[in-house]
Amino acid sequence: MAGRVLFLPGDGIGPEVLREARRVLEAVGEVYGHRFDIVEAPIGDGALERFGDPLPEDTRALAVEVDAVLVGAVGLAVRSAHGTEVDASRGLLDLRRLLGNHANLRPVSVPEALVARSPLRPERVRGVDLVVVRELLGGIYYGRPRGIEDGVAFDTEIYTEEEIRRISVSAFELARTRRRKVTSIDKANVLESSIFWRRIAEGVSRDYPDIEFSSMLVDNCAMQLIRDPRQFDVLLTSNLFGDILSDEAAVLVGSLGMLPSASVGGDIGLYEPVHGAAPDIAGRGIANPVGAILSVAMMLDLTFALPDEEGAVRAAVNRVLEDGYGTVDLHADGGRAPVSTARMGELIVGALGTVGKADQ
Ligand code: IPM
Ligand code: MG
Repeated sequence: MAGRVLFLPGDGIGPEVLREARRVLEAVGEVYGHRFDIVEAPIGDGALERFGDPLPEDTRALAVEVDAVLVGAVGLAVRSAHGTEVDASRGLLDLRRLLGNHANLRPVSVPEALVARSPLRPERVRGVDLVVVRELLGGIYYGRPRGIEDGVAFDTEIYTEEEIRRISVSAFELARTRRRKVTSIDKANVLESSIFWRRIAEGVSRDYPDIEFSSMLVDNCAMQLIRDPRQFDVLLTSNLFGDILSDEAAVLVGSLGMLPSASVGGDIGLYEPVHGAAPDIAGRGIANPVGAILSVAMMLDLTFALPDEEGAVRAAVNRVLEDGYGTVDLHADGGRAPVSTARMGELIVGALGTVGKADQ
């Protein structure tokens, strides 16, 4: 099989984690006899400074002609000389819209090797296996009007019936391949947009009588995720609520650096680790590349329909974690000192050659 993939390293730790993701993708190609042509292009703050645009025209053109796009991280936490963090993030938001992927899938499961490293008690996190299905192209991220005028700041949470229906269908369809449970998240005790969200999600649930459905208020969900995360299978959320809850869910695994994501629904898959640019640790070779590497695994499955290869990457990651390795964010145990970003990638590539079907 041959495929073309666009890598957008972006800002902060993005280039460091994508370097390891590239090595893993190339290793999969070698081990399984596929050819992946990888091209790179700029996005984010760096692109804004060099080209005056966080999503330059050349990047746009490439993004629509490849099979899949992998983003490292976008936006520095400080105001750059040329703009604000909002401007850099716009590169990513424009890219999401360009590719038309409305469903952002953020799986959260705790590998046995990390149970002991979670800040929560083992009995709370062992067996956690949930997916946040986050609406990615609407809501307050894009709503108009927005602005700061005459001492007043405003954003608009806006959802059409069609947008809510579409993401609900994605969540219910995914639940059918899993434990058949959907929890829709809203703030329907306060917000009109949430009352509407709840009504539409409930309506769609009637087409899926085989799926257990409930709605939950977002503040309650934030608590339940820590109190009893195993109750969740598929979490159906708006753009903003999914952004917030997925960072929270990352704590269960022990580090935000572990989580991958895939955005689907358009013709070209978009893959991004859930973490941000982390400028405070950028350039030090300590960032966790696993979120980026597992995003490659999701790409192998969802874009290239290679579930065995996806399983092999996940098994390789688990093998390395079981051997007690981890970057500093994982408080590596097993008597081992934390390893660097590059070493983590190297270990995973090494494990890839040895994981057998039995591990998958
Ligand atoms: C994420 C990030 C982005 C988002 C930012 C960088 C725009 O936090 O993918 O979760 O809010 O969607
Ligand atoms: Mg986020």
